Amino acid sequence: MEAPRPFAREWCAQSLPLTRGSLLKLRVWELWLLLLDFGLNAELPHEEDVHFINEYVNVHNELRGNVLPRGSNLRFMTWDVALSRTARAWGKKCVFEHNNHLEELNMAHPKFNGIGENIWVGPENEFTASIAIRSWYEERKKYHFENDSCSSDCSNYKQLVWDTSYKVGCAVTSCTRVGRIKYAVIFICNYAPGGSLSRRPYKPGITCARCSKYDRCTDFLCSNADRDQSVYYRFWYPRWEVPRPIVCDPLCLFIFFLRMLCFSICIIVVLIIQSRFPNILLEEEMIFAPEVTEVEPEKLQEEDREKVEEVEEEEGDNKKEEGEEENGEEEGVEEESLDLPPS
Ligand SMILES: *[C@@H]1O[C@H](CO)[C@@H](O)[C@H](O)[C@H]1NC(C)=O
Repeated sequence: MEAPRPFAREWCAQSLPLTRGSLLKLRVWELWLLLLDFGLNAELPHEEDVHFINEYVNVHNELRGNVLPRGSNLRFMTWDVALSRTARAWGKKCVFEHNNHLEELNMAHPKFNGIGENIWVGPENEFTASIAIRSWYEERKKYHFENDSCSSDCSNYKQLVWDTSYKVGCAVTSCTRVGRIKYAVIFICNYAPGGSLSRRPYKPGITCARCSKYDRCTDFLCSNADRDQSVYYRFWYPRWEVPRPIVCDPLCLFIFFLRMLCFSICIIVVLIIQSRFPNILLEEEMIFAPEVTEVEPEKLQEEDREKVEEVEEEEGDNKKEEGEEENGEEEGVEEESLDLPPS
């Protein structure tokens, strides 16, 4: 086994004073972030954007194929979706540190263990994948191939040109602040298998001279159709990612369809029972019957009262008419006395 990876410090772009225009633009973006809760800048590519993937994979292969001294066993690199999802998930944290899940089983990749990682942080308007990757390559000036030593940090360079690494996945995330840099972007590339500082990153010699016997030479690098096959891990994503993306794996789909099936069966059973046993509706009537008998007498009573009142009024009117005819003044006195409040 290789010596433990002394995970390296990140390369950090100089934070430059932002112009007023870009500041305003970024403030608007911040508002947008607030509205969406989280999301990617429209200007920043998504980690599964084909142009973005082509750009960083090509830059990696270009730099790896042209190392000095010449490399004889560097592998061709291809894209890996799981590595890019891990890069995205860690980038979302907007921290200036290495991912602490890289050595954990199934946490950074479903198949590989011991993932490599390079991080670039800088102002958003200065970012392109090419600039970031080339800045890692610039660390070669601090690396002495003869005695395998670094005059200062060169871990990003060693990972970039690590011979056995053949899968790469990167992601870029915008952050309101990373360390001292405001309105920063964080660009992360993950590599499998990961590199280390324990030895020289590759064997020098004629290009492709030390490829395995099943390999071909592509752009001065060892390629292999089987090894470079792209695997789309559809349902894998880092478990520690927050917020968790909504992913419905086969089990989730199975449960969903099982529920739909049960629901449909219930409906069918109800329909069959209703058509087979139409008398089952009688039960419904029986249940509602007591309520009906309770309500009706009240109505009847009310109707009766109304009728009685009508009759009484009619009788009263008749009496009044009779009384008025006989002595109208007496009636008026009686009514006044009735209207007075009791003293
Ligand atoms: C390695 O070699 C370089 C120059 O060739 C030298 O500057 C450096 O001090 C050497 N480092 C070690 C650890 O010997």
